Parts: sequence; structure tokens; C-alpha cells
Amino acid sequence: MNTEKGSVYALLLLFLLQGTIGLDILSQNNTIRDGNLLVSSGKRFALGFFSPGNSSHRYVGIWYYQVSEQTIVWVANRERPINGTSGALSIDSDGKLVLHENGSFLVWSTNVSSALSNYSTTARLMDSGNLVLVQDFSERVIWQSFDYPTDTMLPFLKLGLNRKTGLNRFLTSWKSPEDPTPGNCSYRIDPTGYTQLLLYKDGDPYWRAGSWTGDRWSGIPEMTHAFIFNVSFVNDPDEVSIMYGVLDASIITRMVVSESGSLRRSTWHDRDQRWIEFWFAPRDQCDYYGKCGPNSNCNPYDTGQFECTCLPGFEPKSPTDWDLRDGSAGCVRRGGVSVCRSGEGFVKVARVKVPDTTKARANMSLNLKECKEECLRDCSCTAYASASESLGGSGCLMWHGDLLDTRTFGHSGQDLYVRVDAIELARYRKTRSLNQKTSAAIILVSILTALLLAGSFSYCLVIKKRKDCRSHNPPVSDITNSTYLDGPQSVKDHVDGPRGNRDVPLYDLSTIASATNNFSVLNKLGQGGFGSVYKGIMDNGTEIAVKRLSKHSGQGAEEFKNEVRLIAKLQHRNLVRILGCCVEEDEKMLIYEYLPNKSLDAFLFEKTRRSLLDWRKRFEIASGLARGLLYLHQDSRLRIIHRDLKASNVLLDEAMNPKISDFGMARICGADQIQGNTNRVVGTYGYMSPEYAMEGIFSIKSDVYSFGVLLLEIISGKRNSAYYHENPSSNLVGHAWELWKEGNCKDVIDESMGDSCSKEEALRCIQIGLLCVQEFADDRPNMSAVVLMLANNDVALAFPKRPAYVFKSKYHGANLSSSDGTTSVNDVTISEVEGR
Ligand SMILES: *[C@@H]1O[C@H](CO)[C@@H](O)[C@H](O)[C@H]1NC(C)=O
Ligand SMILES: *[C@@H]1O[C@H](CO)[C@@H](O)[C@H](O)[C@H]1NC(C)=O
Ligand SMILES: *[C@@H]1O[C@H](CO)[C@@H](O)[C@H](O)[C@H]1NC(C)=O
Ligand SMILES: *[C@@H]1O[C@H](CO)[C@@H](O)[C@H](O)[C@H]1NC(C)=O
Ligand SMILES: *[C@@H]1O[C@H](CO)[C@@H](O)[C@H](O)[C@H]1NC(C)=O
Ligand SMILES: *[C@@H]1O[C@H](CO)[C@@H](O)[C@H](O)[C@H]1NC(C)=O
Ligand SMILES: *[C@@H]1O[C@H](CO)[C@@H](O)[C@H](O)[C@H]1NC(C)=O
Ligand SMILES: *[C@@H]1O[C@H](CO)[C@@H](O)[C@H](O)[C@H]1NC(C)=O
Ligand SMILES: *[C@@H]1O[C@H](CO)[C@@H](O)[C@H](O)[C@H]1NC(C)=O
Repeated sequence: MNTEKGSVYALLLLFLLQGTIGLDILSQNNTIRDGNLLVSSGKRFALGFFSPGNSSHRYVGIWYYQVSEQTIVWVANRERPINGTSGALSIDSDGKLVLHENGSFLVWSTNVSSALSNYSTTARLMDSGNLVLVQDFSERVIWQSFDYPTDTMLPFLKLGLNRKTGLNRFLTSWKSPEDPTPGNCSYRIDPTGYTQLLLYKDGDPYWRAGSWTGDRWSGIPEMTHAFIFNVSFVNDPDEVSIMYGVLDASIITRMVVSESGSLRRSTWHDRDQRWIEFWFAPRDQCDYYGKCGPNSNCNPYDTGQFECTCLPGFEPKSPTDWDLRDGSAGCVRRGGVSVCRSGEGFVKVARVKVPDTTKARANMSLNLKECKEECLRDCSCTAYASASESLGGSGCLMWHGDLLDTRTFGHSGQDLYVRVDAIELARYRKTRSLNQKTSAAIILVSILTALLLAGSFSYCLVIKKRKDCRSHNPPVSDITNSTYLDGPQSVKDHVDGPRGNRDVPLYDLSTIASATNNFSVLNKLGQGGFGSVYKGIMDNGTEIAVKRLSKHSGQGAEEFKNEVRLIAKLQHRNLVRILGCCVEEDEKMLIYEYLPNKSLDAFLFEKTRRSLLDWRKRFEIASGLARGLLYLHQDSRLRIIHRDLKASNVLLDEAMNPKISDFGMARICGADQIQGNTNRVVGTYGYMSPEYAMEGIFSIKSDVYSFGVLLLEIISGKRNSAYYHENPSSNLVGHAWELWKEGNCKDVIDESMGDSCSKEEALRCIQIGLLCVQEFADDRPNMSAVVLMLANNDVALAFPKRPAYVFKSKYHGANLSSSDGTTSVNDVTISEVEGR
């Protein structure tokens, strides 16, 4: 404030010389009447009288001077409107700022103790939007509007508690767009326990920004991408506060608590003359405080699945409600177990917003290992986590009692270690060792394959001396002089596609960032296991979809580029085209063509849109998918196994032609992601073949299984999981099989197709679908047989054997399995902790 004080004086002198109302200063002898304005020196903000919306009430407020749409950032007399235009704002003889009506009736005043205000004062509107009252004699700021914010947080406004004076600065919503009276929602720092920032509605927590982790709030993972701000968080004996600065002073930005209970950040775009919102919260169902009750975790990313799962070692408190997808009762510790000095340990739940820290204890001098020991020692400690994310994690947070409001994030997030009993610990350990076994087997197979390939390669080289090696490998010269020289051996052997055009464009991070508005949440199209997808527009107007891979991918940049080059060569009308990639710093991105029509699930499982897909269209989609998959399996030299074929991975172009997306992810993301990494099984339960789901064995027949499920979904318009409530032991596959045995198979067909549906064809397709989902992989047809069967009605169909229709873990609760048999093994690993 020091420089400000100086200029206050300079301007005061100027004002004295002029003898009229200064631009930005109100002094003891002047009055601002309705119609007058106080304008900050840089003309950024104005103070005056206004009426919100169509209301006839008059208020004194501050708004942006240069923003064409009147945007109020602060209101003085929030609760006491003035009825006519008789309002007058002045400084009284005590040096207080006062608002009078009819020249006498006091409507509002700054509440400053008289000991401070017994001197003449001057009010000045600053370019930050802050109205300050300065004591002329001492130059002290004795009051400022930033200490009494209304619903808007401006840059450099400090939110939080002054521990010395007890002043707590927080935001409160308006009651309605026409009434600035404090409404039901507030956004404030709660210093109880381990300090958090919370949005309250009707006095209850509504959304939790969480605790400070060093560079962001634990509940706002995207804050690390907050490119226009720098944030300072202070927590010391004097105060606990947060303040945002803007890096570029010309940016006009604000955050508002809306009447309905959401936080909205927007920037003013001069060109469009409107506010553009770039962030808001709460965003998804898991953002609402305590959505899944105590001791549970909310994961919104498995679309179609119940978002609530119990934390490890816990089970639903009310299984009936849980089955009806009401998680509010939460979870309780599984009965009959002890977590006190009886072999207990911890299970890691990865990438979460850590639970409510109101009752958590923190000790910043402990590291994670000491934290674990400390928590283990104390039988009432239910979980621990690192308090800070900076410097790779430091400090210790420990919870006692229920764990509230935990949720999973897609990218960043903290790891939470939950105390579990010995049995539970063993269970998780088993999962891990199972995964390790399969990965060992996979590594063995990979090595054998590599040896085999290397063998045939050298064999070719020897043969070449005598005659041209005419295996399906490309000519040797093609290999030796190409960019693939630095690639892995197996890559060299599988090169195909047009020559001379082998490099997919490599884009700069800056190009992609600007195309996607700096990965703005507004551009986000979705989120999957491998990362987030953003829509972008290149400078030349081309629309693109950018897949920003999560940072867990263990692959190196060169390997990654090689794999993308290979995958990009796969071209088929039923595959989404890869346009290029971007590898920079620790970012890895894939650039795809943009398809405006969303994915198949958005049509198939939506009541209103389902009818747009008549039988012909559905049949064409199924046939197209079969051809695309056949290409991946057989016709391309790479022999790609998709591993995650499902309705949401099928995109539709303008003509509703299906295009398979996310193929080759296993290669692109590095084998490690799929195989080596013990805690990660890709794929989506419900579409996963039993041998893959349970034993991690995959083959082209696992894709055939997924295709069969998809085919049945296309015909029925229902999700495979949709039958769970009717018959908990079953799903669409089981349902179709039961009806098939009874000869009532037509009941499976989606009624919304009406007369467009040829019953005969549809029944044939159901039979093909059932052939694809047979329990034993060897019984299932390969994709070329499927394409043939679909295309040719004369081909006789076999009688399907029993499908593997139920994959249901007996294991109930926890992250390993929720009640509908869905599993998210990927987020659970085991901590090294042993009991004592
Ligand atoms: C206000 O007016 C009184 C007389 O009307 C004068 O004595 C005083 O100096 C003025 N104060 C300021 C700050 O102009
Ligand atoms: C104000 O009144 C106009 C016309 O009656 C209406 O169109 C507009 O929506 C109203 N604005 C608000 C904020 O209620
Ligand atoms: C303004 O008018 C309302 C009725 O329209 C009345 O209740 C209220 O007291 C008035 N306020 C003042 C300050 O006169
Ligand atoms: C202010 O004056 C108007 C008109 O003279 C009158 O209707 C109103 O009641 C007055 N308000 C107060 C608070 O005295
Ligand atoms: C002004 O402050 C005093 C002491 O902090 C408090 O008792 C009083 O209610 C306040 N008045 C208003 C109008 O806020
Ligand atoms: C205000 O200041 C005057 C002298 O400037 C002094 O006489 C008076 O006692 C003070 N009043 C209070 C309440 O401090
Ligand atoms: C605020 O709370 C009150 C009482 O709880 C309720 O009647 C009112 O509808 C709420 N307003 C909003 C905007 O939610
Ligand atoms: C933002 O950074 C600038 C320069 O690095 C610094 O002067 C300013 O105080 C920072 N603001 C906040 C709120 O941290
Ligand atoms: C933090 O832990 C250390 C080591 O156990 C202990 O000495 C210290 O008292 C603890 N600090 C607090 C605030 O509990």
C-alpha cells in the first residue's frame, strides 16, 4: 500500500487545486449523488449508484468502467436498498463513509471505531477495484471494500481470516440477480483442523476445494494449469488467506459465487464483448460434498457405472440403497475384523481428492514413511496422506474416524493410504501378485516373439544375398535406410503403408495449447482411462481432437513417436484417423480428426436419440465395426488387438459411419501401461472377456468377445449392465442367452426401431453376437468369419454355446468391485506396509 499512499497524496493535492470532484477521490467536503461517478485513475473501475436488473431499488456499487455489460463487483448497501434517487455518499465528520437517503436517513456506513476515525479521511477507488478509506493524518488505510467482499473475487482480493483482528473475508452470493442481499451460498476458508476452502450452501458444505497442497487446492487438480494466475497462500499465526494475482494486468477476470451455488471464473473478451467462462465448480456428480457418504470413494469416470465404491476394507452400510445406486449412507468397516495390532496395513487409493480435513491432524515435519509409521502406531488412525505435493510430497496428514468426501480425479490427485485389516491386505496383495504373474508371462511371450522376429530378420538378411527375401516383410533396403533404424526391432519388421510419407506431423506444444485454448475446460470433450480429450481448432480452421495422455505412461519419447507413426499408418474408413502427435516436456498427445457426432453410446443409450438409429443404420454400424476390427486384427501388418472396444470408443461421423477410436493405445502408451504395470488392466468390465478379466490373457478373441457384447447392445439399445436390477446375477449377455434358449429372443430387440427392423436379420445378429461371447475363446469365431456371417445370409450359423455372461467378483465393496460387478483395479495398489 505504500506506493498507493504516496499517490493518494499527490492526487489529493491535485484535487485541492481543482476544487471539484476528483476522478477517483472522495473527500470530506464532497458528495457522490445518484448519477455521479467515482472512476479509478486507470479507468478500470467506477463507483456509483445502480439498479440491478429490472429492479427499481438503488444501490451503491463498484463495476468495471470499460466493460460494456454492467458487471457489479461490489455492493455497499446490500441489505438496505434506496427507493428513489435521493441517495448520497459522503464522508462524515468522524471520517466514516456514509450513505444517506433524503439527505438525513442513514442507510449504510463503514463501521470503523471512532478512535480510528476521529480524523479527516479520504476515500479513493483503486484500479484493482478496491475502495479504500485513508486517514489523511497518518495515511493509514482504515477501511477497504476488499475486506468486505460481496459475491465477486477480484485479482489481489485477499480471502481468508485475519487471526489477530478476527476479520474473516469470504464471498456470499446474491439472493437473486436483482437482489444483492446475501444469499444462501458462501465461499470461505475454514481453519478448523487442517485448513480448507469450502463452498457452503444453506450453511452446509456443498463443494470442497480442499486443503492447500503447495501449488493448488486438493480439490482443484486443474489449478496447476492456471496459466493466467499466480496464487499465494499464507497460513501463519497472523492470518490464513489466499490471493490470486494475474500475470498479465490487461486480463479482466473475476470469480463469482452464483445464487444457485456454483463458483464461476470468467474473463472478459473485448472482441466478443462478453464474459467467457473458463472454469466452474461443482462440475460432476462426485464434486458434491459427501455424495457417496462416509468411507467411500466417488469415481465419475466409468460412465454408466455406479460412481460410488467403498474404500478398501469397507462395505456398503445399506446394501439395498447401494444396489439402487444411492450411496448417501456410505460405508462401514467390514464386520468381525480388527485393525488394531493384528496384522493390519494400508492400501493405496490413487489420484484422489483426499477426505475432508476438518478433523485431520497434520504434522509437517514427518515424511510419508514416518507418516505411515505414526498412523500405524495409532489404532484410531484410519488413513494418511502426504500433506504437500511440492518436492515430491512432504508433510503428513492423518485422519481419525470417518473419511468424508473422497473422489477420484482423472489426472493429478493425491494418493490416500487407507488402513485395512489383515485379510483385506492379503486380498489386495493377491491381486497384485496375480497381475505380476500375468505380466511375467507377457514379458516371456514378448521376449520369445522378439527372438523369433530377430531370427527371421537375420534369416532374411542371409537369404537376401542369394535372392530377394519374399516373406511378408518389406524389402531390406527399406528398413536400413529409414527413420525406423532407431526403433525397436519388431517395429522394423512391421512397417507397411505408403513410402515417403512415413512421418506423421509432430506438433509443438504451443500450437496445440493455442488450438485448445490452453486445454481449457470448455474445450474438454471427455475423459478416459488414458487421459483427457480436448477439441481444438488449428489456425487454418481444421477441427481436431487432442488426446492428452496421462503422465503415467512409461514410454520414452522416441518409442512413443515410433509407435504413433506406426499406428498412424493404419488407415481404414472405420478407424479414426490420427493426424499427428505432440511430445514435449512430459506431455504426450495424439491429434485425431474431429468427429462432431459424438460416440455410439450417446445415441444408443439415450432415450430421445436412440430412435435416430433405425435397423438399417444399426446394421451398417455393426458391419462397419466388424470390418474395422478385422482390419486391425488381420489386414494391417501390425495385428492390433484393441482391448477396449466399447460403445463409447465408437465415434460416428456426419453420415453416422462408425469409426473405432483408441485402437493401438496399448502400443502407443507403452507395453508397460498394459502389461508390466501391475496395477493396471485396461478394458472395461462388461466388455471384457472372462479370460482377460480374470487371468489377464488377451488375444484377438478377447476383442471378438467385446464385439459380441457391442453387437447385442446395438440390437437391444441397452447397456450390458442394464439388466442388473432385474436379475442381479445377470446382464444383457445373460439375458439374451436365457431368452435364446427359450426361443423368445425377439424380446431382446429394441422396440424403438419399430417397423424398420427386420426380425429375421435381427435374430441372426443376436445369434452372431452370442457366438462371439461364448465362454471359451476357441469357440468364438474370428472377425473374418463374423464379417462373412454379417454380410451373407446364406452362411449357416452354428448354435452358440453357453456364454461367459457373468463376470462377478464375489468380492463385494471396496474399489476392487462395486455391486454391479464393475471393477476398477487400476486405482488400487498395495502399500508395502506390514502390520507393525
Ligand atoms: C472543507 O470545507 C471547509 C469549510 O467549508 C474547509 O475549512 C476545509 O478545509 C475543507 N476541507 C477539505 C478537505 O477540502
Ligand atoms: C427485465 O425486463 C425485460 C422486459 O420486461 C425482460 O426481458 C428481462 O428478462 C428482465 N430482466 C431481468 C434480469 O429480469
Ligand atoms: C422502500 O420501499 C419499501 C416499499 O416499497 C418500503 O418497505 C421500504 O421501507 C422503503 N425503504 C426506505 C429506506 O424508505
Ligand atoms: C424520502 O423522501 C420521499 C419523498 O419525499 C419519501 O416518500 C420517503 O418516505 C422518504 N424516505 C425516508 C427514509 O425518509
Ligand atoms: C460495528 O462494529 C461493532 C463492533 O465490531 C459491532 O458491534 C456492530 O454491530 C457493528 N455495526 C454494524 C452496523 O455492522
Ligand atoms: C477527537 O480529536 C479531538 C482533537 O483532535 C479530541 O479533542 C477528541 O477527544 C477526540 N475524540 C475521540 C473520541 O477520540
Ligand atoms: C435459500 O434458502 C431458503 C431457506 O432455506 C430457501 O427457501 C430458498 O429457496 C433458498 N434460495 C436459493 C436461491 O436456493
Ligand atoms: C505474482 O507474481 C508477481 C511477480 O512474480 C508478484 O509480484 C506478485 O506478488 C505475485 N502475486 C501473487 C498474488 O502471488
Ligand atoms: C511431529 O512429529 C514429531 C516426531 O514424531 C514430533 O516430535 C512432533 O511433536 C510432532 N509435531 C506435532 C505438531 O505434532
